Amino acid sequence: MKIVVIGGTGLIGTKLVKKLREHGHEAVAASPNTGVNSVTGEGLAGALKGASVVVDVTNSPSWEDAAVLKFFETSTRNLLANEGAAGVGHHVALSVVGTERLLESGFFRAKFAQENLIKASSIPYSIVRATQFFEFVKQLADFATVGNQVRLPSALFQPMAADDIAHAMARIATNSPVNGTVEIGGPEQFRLDELARRDLAARQDPREVISDPHARYYGIAVSARTLVPNDDARLGEMHFDDWLNQSTKQAPKSASQPA
Ligand SMILES: NC(=O)c1ccc[n+]([C@@H]2O[C@H](COP(=O)([O-])OP(=O)(O)OC[C@H]3O[C@@H](n4cnc5c(N)ncnc54)[C@H](OP(=O)(O)O)[C@@H]3O)[C@@H](O)[C@H]2O)c1
Repeated sequence: MKIVVIGGTGLIGTKLVKKLREHGHEAVAASPNTGVNSVTGEGLAGALKGASVVVDVTNSPSWEDAAVLKFFETSTRNLLANEGAAGVGHHVALSVVGTERLLESGFFRAKFAQENLIKASSIPYSIVRATQFFEFVKQLADFATVGNQVRLPSALFQPMAADDIAHAMARIATNSPVNGTVEIGGPEQFRLDELARRDLAARQDPREVISDPHARYYGIAVSARTLVPNDDARLGEMHFDDWLNQSTKQAPKSASQPA
């Protein structure tokens, strides 16, 4: 089966293309780096020729409100139109758990617009909403840093390994469209502040994590359950501590300072 992975050179895309090829599929990594641009349309018709499935794991180069909305709207419209012309039978897209609860943020308004375009189109689809990647915990801490302090709320948080996301995406892409939304999450729930503390300590990062009920999550007000998936979410296998051990072995000490 020919499966085109738009954003196939990114964090999730690279892992997904590898997994699909291991299972004997013809997986094509499509992105500006391989001559395919879902925003301008460059190379899209050629890449989709003969494809049965298109998986969208792109991300916008800019998260500025207007830019990110324009990216996901234009890209999704172009993909769906080209899929219609090429006879693609399944559009799979990666979105984020809790998107409709995070609309204070321009990024999530853009993801919501992406989901709605997919639902309104005539192409059979599966929307996969994942919780945050493990890799994102440090990024969150960086965003919440002032001086040597990281202020985070103690909202529940259920992140997952990028490998588990790719595994779930591969399984969904090679099955029939669900014409709905599937949620996936990590195997354990944490408190966000506690997890960031653990992540930074393992990296020997000297920043202090302050638990602050008024602190925001990436600039967004959240309550206890805003970020966690529904009870019927499919759970990944990799545990945070195992991932952290592996990733800190590869990079024993964090030299980077928060942006
Ligand atoms: N961060 C999280 O915790 C989280 C949680 C759940 C879901 N997600 C979602 O997961 C998705 C993928 O994230 P990621 O971290 O894997 O992304 P990433 O590593 O930043 O990769 C983005 C990919 O998009 C491609 N791309 C950018 N502009 C493009 C364009 N105009 N046309 C085609 N491809 C384009 C890039 O191609 P080049 O390499 O050629 O630039 C790259 O392959 C995002 O939609 C995000 O919302 C993220």
